[in-house]
Amino acid sequence: TRTIFYDCDTGIDDAMTLLYLASRIRAGAVDLAGVGTVHGNTDPLTGALNTLRVLELAGIKAGEEGVPVAVGAARPMAQDVHYALDWHGTDGLGDTRLPEPAGRPVAEPAAALLVRLARARPGELTVLATGPLTNLGAALLLDPELPSLVREVVVMGGAFDHPGNITTHAEANIWHDPEAADLVFAADWPVMLVPLDATHPTAVHGDWLDRLAAHDTAAARFAVRVLSFYVDAYTPVLRQRGAVVHDALAAMLMLEPELGEYAQRAVRVELRGELTRGTTVWDARSLPAEDTRRPVRVAVGSDVPAFHERLLAALTSL
Ligand code: BDR
Ligand code: CA
Repeated sequence: TRTIFYDCDTGIDDAMTLLYLASRIRAGAVDLAGVGTVHGNTDPLTGALNTLRVLELAGIKAGEEGVPVAVGAARPMAQDVHYALDWHGTDGLGDTRLPEPAGRPVAEPAAALLVRLARARPGELTVLATGPLTNLGAALLLDPELPSLVREVVVMGGAFDHPGNITTHAEANIWHDPEAADLVFAADWPVMLVPLDATHPTAVHGDWLDRLAAHDTAAARFAVRVLSFYVDAYTPVLRQRGAVVHDALAAMLMLEPELGEYAQRAVRVELRGELTRGTTVWDARSLPAEDTRRPVRVAVGSDVPAFHERLLAALTSL
């Protein structure tokens, strides 16, 4: 059983990831110790309420009486906040307008909850982050010993040989808070990074969506509704009916790393470029590495059929 702190900006693909994690909780593979939310797809309070809604839909007790869900940073460290309403809807969940959750967010801020959980279980906690990295950056500032307390950090973000998705070169989660992301890549802890290079080839298409729609459970019906908004946004990009469920790939590679292919490289974030701020940079030259940063395990590919089958099985198991 992996003990997870999940930091997210729920968010359609974050919501699919919560359903995936719920299926893994039911299977006994995951213990969800806490969730933090951050600005990104939406504001962090909306993201926290969405997180509670989705966990409750999946039958997981959340809030003060269950899995703690903590509201985190409302803005990045050194720039203005931006939301991704065109991709995720004004409510963050494709305008599906789910009912109010039964549970409430806890009073503690997300970064403080992360630090407290890591200190309570030294060496056990895996941090999965699928939104901007402001809460993780803040937690590193709060507790400089955090890197030695955490087992692994798994991040969805960045783009190397793949174009950006928010600017020509930058991926959204990194672009939303480049300073925080660079703190995370500079820290001395094991990081797995799942960039657009790995997520884009895993896009789900019409046949997969039709198979999901054939299932008549509350969770599958919700997944179909929420994904249909995302599919409408993605179809012009993919030039066919489909969507990229980025965040779920990061969660699956966290639990089943053998499904991925990786490069080990130091990663930096461009903090000043006029056209490239928020871009992830690695040194791919075939020279001995000059960068003294601890190498990040960057996913460069994955077993796409296995991802599709396992995600579908998870979404239809609830
Ligand atoms: C990332 O950006 C967000 O919009 C998605 O939820 C995902 O985490 C993809 O670039
Ligand atoms: Ca996300």
